[in-house]
Amino acid sequence: FIPPATGGAGGGATAKDELGDDVSVSKFLESHNVGDRTLVQGLKGDPTYIVVESKEAIADYGINAICTHLGCVVPWNVAENKFKCPCHGSQYDATGKVVRGPAPRSLALAHANVNDDKIVLTPWTETDFRTNEEPWWS
Ligand code: FES
Repeated sequence: FIPPATGGAGGGATAKDELGDDVSVSKFLESHNVGDRTLVQGLKGDPTYIVVESKEAIADYGINAICTHLGCVVPWNVAENKFKCPCHGSQYDATGKVVRGPAPRSLALAHANVNDDKIVLTPWTETDFRTNEEPWWS
């Protein structure tokens, strides 16, 4: 057992920016627009999108950016309101639900909570709210 280095509870991780620093939620909200999806380092260092839900809040879920086909990092396409994988053309809606293959599954989710101006990501083990199915990643 290796305790989480960041002090997150229950297998959680504090979201980090590209420099490896903790993301400050207040600064993050100041510098992003409502609807933005922005990559941070999340659970296990996986690239994870944080969703700006309003001027005051991020969404309570993060979206793992790793394509469920062959593992490319999937960019957010703001003009089309979708995630589009550059590798083989899979598409995911704004919540990461797969809408076009070859990807077989939706992007994985993590819980995203704010604690002390930091974003704490924890494993999502509940029903996938997009499909009402058990989470394939947990
Ligand atoms: Fe994304 Fe193949 S890795 S479509």
